[in-house]
Amino acid sequence: MYNKGTIIPGLIIFVLFVTFPIWFNGLKAGTLPKPELPPGGEKKCVMPVEYMRANHMQLLNEWRDNVLRDDNRTVVTVEGKPYRKGLQMACMNCHSNKEKFCDNCHAYTAVKPYCWDCHLTPKEAASKEVTH
Ligand code: HEC
Ligand code: HEC
Ligand code: HEC
Repeated sequence: MYNKGTIIPGLIIFVLFVTFPIWFNGLKAGTLPKPELPPGGEKKCVMPVEYMRANHMQLLNEWRDNVLRDDNRTVVTVEGKPYRKGLQMACMNCHSNKEKFCDNCHAYTAVKPYCWDCHLTPKEAASKEVTH
């Protein structure tokens, strides 16, 4: 019948070969922090996730210009729900855990956005609501 001595190693090599993209990506992804998904259960971001991963800083600058220079607080619609453009009004509305989402990634890449010098984090906003 079959020669076990060559079939088993052959199978192992075949399986490794076929699943290569899965475990190879797994190894790569494993070295990056996994940002927490919005606790509110939202499934989509304001732009495709790949775009957001690479360009969220530019998008934030664009939005700030929209709001401040052009006085254009346009609404973005995600999954049928409107959000007014803004760091707190849109981004942090979904990504309400700044520590586990934004900070997690930024600590890993050693970026320290200075935005929070002025903008309230969801935690700060919540504590203001309680005391006022
Ligand atoms: C020196 C204080 C200061 C810093 C630092 C700062 N901002 Fe702002 N930002 C403001 C003020 C004031 C407004 C106007 C708020 C308004 O009109 O609602 C604003 C508005 C914005 C808006 C549009 C409106 C809104 O509610 O979000 C965006 C987006 C924004 N900033 C993003 C950023 C980002 C991203 C950073 C960090 C890279 C940052 N800002 C740093 C003061 C600051
Ligand atoms: C309607 C809710 C919602 C809003 C508003 C929103 N996001 Fe997201 N964001 C998500 C969801 C859900 C994901 C994950 C999408 C996925 O995995 O396909 C995501 C993904 C991301 C990612 C990529 C994370 C990763 O896994 O690599 C970044 C960065 C990001 N958002 C930043 C922002 C910023 C900055 C803003 C404001 C300009 C914003 N988001 C506004 C819901 C939102
Ligand atoms: C998937 C990882 C990831 C997540 C999640 C993420 N960021 Fe970032 N962010 C980065 C990286 C990487 C950079 C640096 C990019 C560069 O230098 O080109 C950056 C840079 C920035 C900058 C520009 C800072 C500077 O000094 O240039 C801002 C502003 C910013 N992020 C805001 C946010 C906010 C707000 C959130 C949460 C809503 C967030 N980011 C979530 C990875 C992430």
